[in-house]
Amino acid sequence: MSQVLGTTELNTVFDEDSVLKQELLEGLLAEKKYINPKFFYDEAGSQLFEKIMQLPEYYPSRTEMALLEKHQDEIAVAIGENKVLIEPGAGNCEKVQYILPTLQPKCYVPIDISADFLFESASNLQTKFPHVHIHAVADDMKAKVDVPEKFKTNHKVVFYPGSTIGNYKPIQALEFLKHVRELVGKEGGLLIGVDLQKDKEILDAAYNDKDGVTALFNLNVLNHVNKLLDSDIDAELFEHVAFYNEEHCRIEMHLESKVNQQCSIDNLIQVNFSESERIHTEYSYKYTIESFSQLAAQAGLKLENYWLDDDELFSVQYYVAL
Ligand code: AVI
Repeated sequence: MSQVLGTTELNTVFDEDSVLKQELLEGLLAEKKYINPKFFYDEAGSQLFEKIMQLPEYYPSRTEMALLEKHQDEIAVAIGENKVLIEPGAGNCEKVQYILPTLQPKCYVPIDISADFLFESASNLQTKFPHVHIHAVADDMKAKVDVPEKFKTNHKVVFYPGSTIGNYKPIQALEFLKHVRELVGKEGGLLIGVDLQKDKEILDAAYNDKDGVTALFNLNVLNHVNKLLDSDIDAELFEHVAFYNEEHCRIEMHLESKVNQQCSIDNLIQVNFSESERIHTEYSYKYTIESFSQLAAQAGLKLENYWLDDDELFSVQYYVAL
């Protein structure tokens, strides 16, 4: 297995941190306050997300895994042989294990910003799949992917499960799809998990589980913000709010202030919250097969095949680059 260090290692931690701090500050001082959902995933947040994926109300993860497992033969036929499979944000490389046995790509390139975690997952995977060349890259999603020299002429396919695309606004999703199109080149492909529009009750329940795990996940972002900004925001004075916005076909998550309050950042800046003022923390867009394939078409990607569960809750879609 080969490992590649990313550009992040070349930057100083302070540079990285100050960019993140700046971004957080802008959000908290904006007229409509917001926190980018990427800040959910500190250690506690990542553990809470693991719990969310096990919740009975949260159907996306288990439905997607069942689809990948059930249709692995058809997926392998659609993608074809001898590919280089690239997975941005691969994390623990769990989902790819449903398709590797039948797809058997020449090379698998997991990319993730958490270097240690990635290299450990990739090395475990290499033991399980000795015939696939695994080339782990520690970098962000927009990394320029250097495929090993001997696989340079093999066609590339991006694997993007988890419905992470739903967390981008459609305009950002289109940007990402264009990036994928450029990365894979003509005749490359994209295998992507996309969550579907459905009854509001099912969606509302998935983001308001009865055990309150999603609420803790949402509120935990404030603890992460406090660590990064040296601020004193009291998560107990905020409430988790999540609902499906039917007009925009998206789940919206917010944190609502229970009282009028003042918080301080680094003993320097004061941020005021009035009672019932909200901080926007996440969108999770839901698509139809048609609406998503139309978006992908604008990026030069043509829908080739898709797979749905019996209740049509979730989709796995395969696109070919034109
Ligand atoms: C990571 N992402 C696809 C999840 C979603 O469903 O949008 C994040 C999440 N937020 C609350 N629950 C899960």
